[in-house]
Amino acid sequence: MTVLVTGGAGYIGSHTVVQLIAQGSQVVVLDNLCNSNPEVFNRIEDIIGVQPTFVEGDIRDRECLDSIFSTYSIDSVIHFAGLKAVGESSQIPLNYYQNNVHGTLVLCEAMAAADVKKLIFSSSATVYGEDAPVPYEETMPRGKTSNPYGTSKAMVEQILTDLCKSDPEWSVTLLRYFNPIGAHPSGCIGEDPKGIPNNLMPFISQVAVGKRKELSIFGNDYPTTDGTCERDYLHVMDLADGHVSALSALEYNGVHIYNLGTGNGLSVLAMVNSFMDVTGVDVPYSFADRRDGDLPAFWADASKAEKELGWSATRTLDQMMEDTWRWQSNNPNGYDG
Ligand code: NAD
Ligand code: UD1
Repeated sequence: MTVLVTGGAGYIGSHTVVQLIAQGSQVVVLDNLCNSNPEVFNRIEDIIGVQPTFVEGDIRDRECLDSIFSTYSIDSVIHFAGLKAVGESSQIPLNYYQNNVHGTLVLCEAMAAADVKKLIFSSSATVYGEDAPVPYEETMPRGKTSNPYGTSKAMVEQILTDLCKSDPEWSVTLLRYFNPIGAHPSGCIGEDPKGIPNNLMPFISQVAVGKRKELSIFGNDYPTTDGTCERDYLHVMDLADGHVSALSALEYNGVHIYNLGTGNGLSVLAMVNSFMDVTGVDVPYSFADRRDGDLPAFWADASKAEKELGWSATRTLDQMMEDTWRWQSNNPNGYDG
């Protein structure tokens, strides 16, 4: 089986490529490298002995897509490519809609023309919106999103749902990720954010390695166990395995929706303390104001993926911390060394 992986040079994509190759798939990666580094392909080879086929190009470039579909015998597409910085999406919304929404339209048009109608899309827990009760269940309606990034994910979910309704040959799986963290246990690939990290774990590990002075914890007056926000953190290798499992759901036509999370919420303080316990490295922190748009607490009801895909998150919190630290301490400057 040959899988086209858009955004396969990125954080989640690269881990998924490793697991796909390990499971016996041929992989073609399409990535414009706007948020990634081609060194990742050497690292993938260090882990698994081969590199995926790599096409440097943009999902919005129809000619490039047509050429991929005519050159390789693609069976299905896993679509990670997109922009993902929530704050930035409010500053440059058009870029986000261009890339995430228009890009997906161009991809689907090229797929339809090539008669490839099996797609897995990277969605997000953010589509449940601001008012959904926890845990989030797939049967809940999408809610009100608070930023263009989240809205772009909700729009693409709706577009793909309409596409499946219009043509029963399509099979689309919407995977709603909770909070992926960690890295491949080899320490060869991991999360390599450009500039100041927006997300919690890369910030913690950059403080630990001495690149940043201290962590600001955004808010300690939330109605949670210790006043800090709670999230459902899952190991990126579990998330990668979730994509391999989800390929099986593509045998059935129509839209399939799965939460990929552990089913447990953990607070920011619990995460910082766990990192320090597991690694023995101190992470200075102080409390700061709440961050705009943050919800107090959410986690997944992860039972549907377990029942229908046979997938559940199996790696422990200690593994998430150990693997984050192995990647960060081996590669203080990410793929730049
Ligand atoms: P990432 O930025 O590391 O990876 C995205 C990849 O897509 C990058 O390699 C980038 O260069 C590429 N890309 C972006 N625009 C492109 C375009 N127009 N054409 C070709 N390539 C393009 O992000 P990630 O964390 O690996 O996330 C992957 C997907 O999962 C994204 O769609 C993201 O929105 C979604 N997601 C991520 C998280 C998370 O916590 N990381 C949570 C929910 C959903
Ligand atoms: C964020 C996005 C979400 C996106 C996800 C993955 C927002 C509001 N949400 O999720 O839409 O799908 O990233 O890209 O941005 N924290 C700190 N200090 C920091 C960084 C984070 O205290 O320096 C806290 C946050 O307030 C939050 C928790 O850590 O409570 C997790 O934050 P983060 O890793 O950014 O994930 P989300 O906010 O859940």
